[in-house]
Amino acid sequence: MKRAWWKEAVVYQIYPRSFMDSNGDGIGDLKGITSKLDYLKQLGVDVVWLSPVYKSPNDDNGYDISDYRTIMDEFGTMEDFDEMLEAMHARGIKLVMDLVANHTSDEHPWFIESRKSKDNPYRDYYIWRPGKDGAEPNNWLSYFGGSAWQYDETTGEYYLHLFSKRQPDLNWENPKVRDEIYDMMTFWLDKGIDGFRMDVINAISKVEGLPDAPNPNGEKYVWGGQYFLNGPKVHDYLQEMHERVLSKYDIMTVGETGGVTTQDALLYAGEERRELNMVFQFEHTEKLDSGPGGKWDIRPWKLTDLKAIMSRWQYDLHGKAWNSLYLNNHDQPRSVSRWGDDKRYRVESAKMLATFLHMQQGTPFIYQGEEIGMTNVQFDSIEDYRDVEIHNLWQDRVVRGGQDPDVVMRAIHAKGRDNARTPMQWDDSENAGFTTGTPWIKVNPNYKEINVKNALADPQSIFYYYQSLIRLRHEHPVVVYGRYDLILEDHPEIYAFTRTLGDECWLVINNFFSGTPVFELPDHLPSEAPQLMISNYEVPENDDIRRIQLRPYESRVYRLS
Ligand code: GLC
Ligand code: CA
Repeated sequence: MKRAWWKEAVVYQIYPRSFMDSNGDGIGDLKGITSKLDYLKQLGVDVVWLSPVYKSPNDDNGYDISDYRTIMDEFGTMEDFDEMLEAMHARGIKLVMDLVANHTSDEHPWFIESRKSKDNPYRDYYIWRPGKDGAEPNNWLSYFGGSAWQYDETTGEYYLHLFSKRQPDLNWENPKVRDEIYDMMTFWLDKGIDGFRMDVINAISKVEGLPDAPNPNGEKYVWGGQYFLNGPKVHDYLQEMHERVLSKYDIMTVGETGGVTTQDALLYAGEERRELNMVFQFEHTEKLDSGPGGKWDIRPWKLTDLKAIMSRWQYDLHGKAWNSLYLNNHDQPRSVSRWGDDKRYRVESAKMLATFLHMQQGTPFIYQGEEIGMTNVQFDSIEDYRDVEIHNLWQDRVVRGGQDPDVVMRAIHAKGRDNARTPMQWDDSENAGFTTGTPWIKVNPNYKEINVKNALADPQSIFYYYQSLIRLRHEHPVVVYGRYDLILEDHPEIYAFTRTLGDECWLVINNFFSGTPVFELPDHLPSEAPQLMISNYEVPENDDIRRIQLRPYESRVYRLS
């Protein structure tokens, strides 16, 4: 397997609105980020992925961009950006920016022009269609609920928006749109940034004719992903993008690609394909604990299913493409609340989840606050939520749909995106040290206990555990490049695997629950001279690894040879 700096790196995702506020307006900003770079350096991460900081009316917190080349007023100025980038580079930290190119804001000048008239030169920058029998051009459901089409009175046509109605989809069929995007990417790369995380990049090519999706239950709007995810021209576009832009720089690219299989991923990220370096897959975050009704149809999950998913990605990509590894981000609930125990065993389970993830093959992504074990939040009132997706859901189900508000609120508590968007908890002072003003979204009330200050003061904290995991990766090529092999495949509580590079073999053991199951070492693995590399409990010296009674959420990593 070819070596590359981005394979050896650990990435830290910053959601700028919630990271650190420098001027007391309650909104995180670039100067706030710059002020915390020493903290990230101490953690040991190599790369920061910054969620969007471009000019935006914030219908979807910056994922609706009205000017790709200007910094959002609330976040600061281009000077602040340049200063931040320089300060990162001075510390050996690279910067990956969010590229949101499937859609813009409805306040982007292109869209303002586009909606003016059918013969406006910008008309074809977006996807406009006449209605069909007095209704929307097709029956597609938007990601955020309701129709994916919005009627526009000025010209009497509809425009497509896969996300909110304030996020019109760009028309990638139009070569001028592609030129604009490539120019804009070049602008940022020439500033010296180190790569892009590409928002919903596998949605940019829609199937010709935009056909209705099958609708067996006669619903008003239905999921039409098969007509816009991994569409017919997506690989042509990405190869063109690679040729025209990406190939000219030594950068890292990761595509956000909902609904991809490993076979799709080999096309996006295959080593020889000249498209992207990696993709984010969603099988463990979207399928594992959801029923047929989708995200809000919450089901218990099974460890054997998690193993099957993760292992398939490990095996199918090995030697051919590179995995990204993540358990949460700004769109997902907090990992310790979802897969661990955010009460009694919060610290143990957060460390266990980190071990499980960081010991796989791929590039790990840490989401801000994960390194101190931040948890989901339970606001009682819908008024305290800020996310457009949550508010659309509430309107749809409670206000218009008459569903039980308690049931919908429980789903929001479990899966809502604002779980990940409450302010970063820096200390136990008011508003967790995030702001001196009123935060744009309430702080999680558990900040007095869970915060960076406490974590840095406690040698046994989750923070220092992450620091050790990152150090192991930097010091041992087996952690980066070693082959992954699952063991104890059917065990319902223990997730164990080995990593092998040349003669070196590491064993990773994770107890995923609060029980105390016995780990039995498979016969083919050597037990003579195990060396403990990391663990989340004290381990007696010379413990016999052939049979280990595990403690709740216990993790151990041994070097076997
Ligand atoms: C991606 C982003 C999400 C955003 C959506 C639309 O899924 O991660 O936050 O709402 O794209 O841009
Ligand atoms: Ca601010």
